[in-house]
Amino acid sequence: MSTFSNCSLQSIQQAALALRKGNLVAFPTETVYGLGADATNEKAISRVYEVKARPLGHPLIVHVSDISLLDKWASDISEIAIRLARSFWPGPMTLVLPKTNLAKDFITGSQDNVALRIPSHPVALELLKEFEKQGGFGVAAPSANRFGKLSPTTAVAVEMELGKFLSTSDHILDGGASKVGVESTIIDCTIALPTILRPGAVTIEMIEEVLDIKLDLGSAPSKEIKAPGMLVSHYSPNAKIYLSGAPSPGDGYIALSDLPTPTGAIRLASPKDSEEYAQILYESLRSADNKGLKNVFVVPPHNQGVGVAINDRLAKSAK
Ligand code: TXA
Ligand code: MG
Repeated sequence: MSTFSNCSLQSIQQAALALRKGNLVAFPTETVYGLGADATNEKAISRVYEVKARPLGHPLIVHVSDISLLDKWASDISEIAIRLARSFWPGPMTLVLPKTNLAKDFITGSQDNVALRIPSHPVALELLKEFEKQGGFGVAAPSANRFGKLSPTTAVAVEMELGKFLSTSDHILDGGASKVGVESTIIDCTIALPTILRPGAVTIEMIEEVLDIKLDLGSAPSKEIKAPGMLVSHYSPNAKIYLSGAPSPGDGYIALSDLPTPTGAIRLASPKDSEEYAQILYESLRSADNKGLKNVFVVPPHNQGVGVAINDRLAKSAK
């Protein structure tokens, strides 16, 4: 496995070629780093499951570089989906749409829909463009972590998570720290009223404003069937996470910067607002593990805006 740290056009072209040949490429996106593979290559996709130790049957998100490629993968795309796509792509949003025959069972988890995303990170976009120039249709990319663990937001974190499971023909592209820091908002657009399956930086408020409708947030029973990866305890560091109570001396502590550090606690992060909180969350939890801390006390941000996504991830990592 080789890491390209300058991400020149040449190294991106080389990475795209590796993808075309069925190898894996971990690459930066604005949300988290993804472990990429040719979404039409069953063998490459089975390696993704192996490297991540992810149970089979969990569907994957297909990444493309442009809206014009949408109808290769999706059919019967609703007006609402088109409006969302035009408003938030490229960006931290994934749309679940009715699939075409290009999306095989090994991508969709045998469902009749497919998840699609156009990321905004320049290295991701360039990689996807090069891959498509070389004849590819889309890159499947789950977060580049072992199943159930924290998503990586830096190339170093990818290397620590997956380095020993990658082969000499695989690559890691280093595009710096992810700016958003939590995974994309997933919106189910296969039903009349779109439903948020996973909150992210494209917030409920933003979606309601663009669509000029009120989302029914109570109506998400499909969540359990459609996104199995989100049911189990997830986003877990080795340290135990507490969302209430007071830390003892030697415990880790994460809170917004206006809260002082309790006596003896080890301050892991002091974000100034929810956006910065999302950006540093996973890296701070990783640092707790690197320091060998047993317990981390986290004061969650308000449950609005991207704070909803942070609270969602914290609740799962504390399970
Ligand atoms: O920000 C992101 O979305 C990152 C970056 C790399 O793009 N990717 C990511 O992928 O978070 P992953 O596989 O770690 O999480 C995707 C989630 C999983 O829980 C999966 O079950 C769900 O999306 N998912 C994928 N395809 C789906 C589909 N067709 N219907 C419903 N849920 C789906
Ligand atoms: Mg993931």
